[in-house]
Amino acid sequence: MYITKAKYTAKQTPVSLSLCFRIHISLSLPHFLSLSLYVFMVQARGIQIRENVKNIGAQVLEQVVRGAHSNNGTDYAYDFNSSESEAPPTTYLPEDFNYLPSQVCPERLPTMKGRLEVNMTEILLDEVEHSLLRADPSLAPGGYWTPTDCQPRWKVAILIPFRNRHEHLPILLRHLVPVLQRQRLQFAFYVIEQTGTEPFNRAMLFNVGFKEAMKDLDWNCLVFHDVDHLMENDRNYYGCNDMPRHFAVKLNKYSYMLPYNEFFGGVSGLTVEQYKKINGFPNAFWGWGGEDDDLWNRVQLANYTVSRPSGELGRYMSIPHHHHGEAQFLGRYTLLRHSKERQGLDGLSNLNYSPQVSRRHLYTNISVSLTRNLAPIADY
Ligand SMILES: *[C@@H]1O[C@H](CO)[C@@H](O)[C@H](O)[C@H]1NC(C)=O
Ligand SMILES: *[C@@H]1O[C@H](CO)[C@@H](O)[C@H](O)[C@H]1NC(C)=O
Ligand SMILES: *[C@@H]1O[C@H](CO)[C@@H](O)[C@H](O)[C@H]1NC(C)=O
Ligand SMILES: *[C@@H]1O[C@H](CO)[C@@H](O)[C@H](O)[C@H]1NC(C)=O
Ligand SMILES: *[C@@H]1O[C@H](CO)[C@@H](O)[C@H](O)[C@H]1NC(C)=O
Repeated sequence: MYITKAKYTAKQTPVSLSLCFRIHISLSLPHFLSLSLYVFMVQARGIQIRENVKNIGAQVLEQVVRGAHSNNGTDYAYDFNSSESEAPPTTYLPEDFNYLPSQVCPERLPTMKGRLEVNMTEILLDEVEHSLLRADPSLAPGGYWTPTDCQPRWKVAILIPFRNRHEHLPILLRHLVPVLQRQRLQFAFYVIEQTGTEPFNRAMLFNVGFKEAMKDLDWNCLVFHDVDHLMENDRNYYGCNDMPRHFAVKLNKYSYMLPYNEFFGGVSGLTVEQYKKINGFPNAFWGWGGEDDDLWNRVQLANYTVSRPSGELGRYMSIPHHHHGEAQFLGRYTLLRHSKERQGLDGLSNLNYSPQVSRRHLYTNISVSLTRNLAPIADY
């Protein structure tokens, strides 16, 4: 473990960063297992960034510093674009491209236009249901849809862990359903809602959702989707070509930068085959944080390489909210040191649960009370 403390004072501009810490903890593990914890408080011209400790990295500090240099006006500005060049998606098919119902759907359809409007206005689920059905009456219960003008390339189950975010779900569905239709994927939505009094267990909810979804259909592609993440580009393809994949690369709440290289949160995906091979998500992460890092470790241990959409494609906006008293999981660093040993023991293999499943028009509701004895594991 080492700690570096940096103090920075910009010369060209009267900006002072009063305090910056970067703490990097290396736990004498293989490179990909090392944990990075960045803590910092930056005060620049009255602008304070006191973000979530886990999720924001040194890159932000760099940006702040760079921003301070490049701006000599009175307003502070981030330079979002400086390091990444736009990958030119020149290979999208032309508007008049024709494909046949007997053919596999193309991946880069002319209907995928790129940048999307994001509408975060709250709306009732019923209204979204009506308008999506009006737009395409073939949308079936469970939010199930399949293209009719070509053969879907992937069968994608969208898994959404859920608790107390009833206002977010319609916003996400309104946004995402038309995108997936334009991407010509076969898909359905599974909302896995945790009941009971235990801390939120996002990872275990994914395992439950996976097992239930596979009872419906032989899905071959899985997307793990937070309810508050809205993609900003419809060319961010949710098929499973380049799995494992981390989709949510650039979040507005992290100034459109990847918080750290091993970040695997927000929206990610695996093929069903890969998910089974890594024994799914861990069940042992009760409370907020760490389960995505453990999944990253599992994927690395299986020798998979994570891909990410390039340039603007991986941009997302998240619906603002406060962590309504969701507890952070403070034991995550201890668990993460033993990702390897736990992988075979904790996951799809040791999971028991009794769900209440009901079909809504836009999603399957899997309501499940989670307790620790449902996924027994020796203490680590
Ligand atoms: C700094 O401000 C001056 C005057 O406002 C302007 O002419 C100059 O272009 C600015 N420089 C940069 C790097 O923005
Ligand atoms: C980023 O770059 C693109 C293309 O170079 C430009 O159109 C856009 O305005 C830039 N965005 C920001 C926030 O600077
Ligand atoms: C956003 O959604 C609201 C509620 O459905 C709607 O009234 C409004 O027109 C939408 N805004 C845009 C820009 O589409
Ligand atoms: C991953 O690669 C390493 C080194 O090449 C090898 O020792 C290990 O057995 C591989 N793991 C799997 C699950 O294939
Ligand atoms: C799911 O179903 C349960 C009842 O089984 C209900 O209480 C809950 O509100 C539903 N959740 C969602 C997101 O529809």
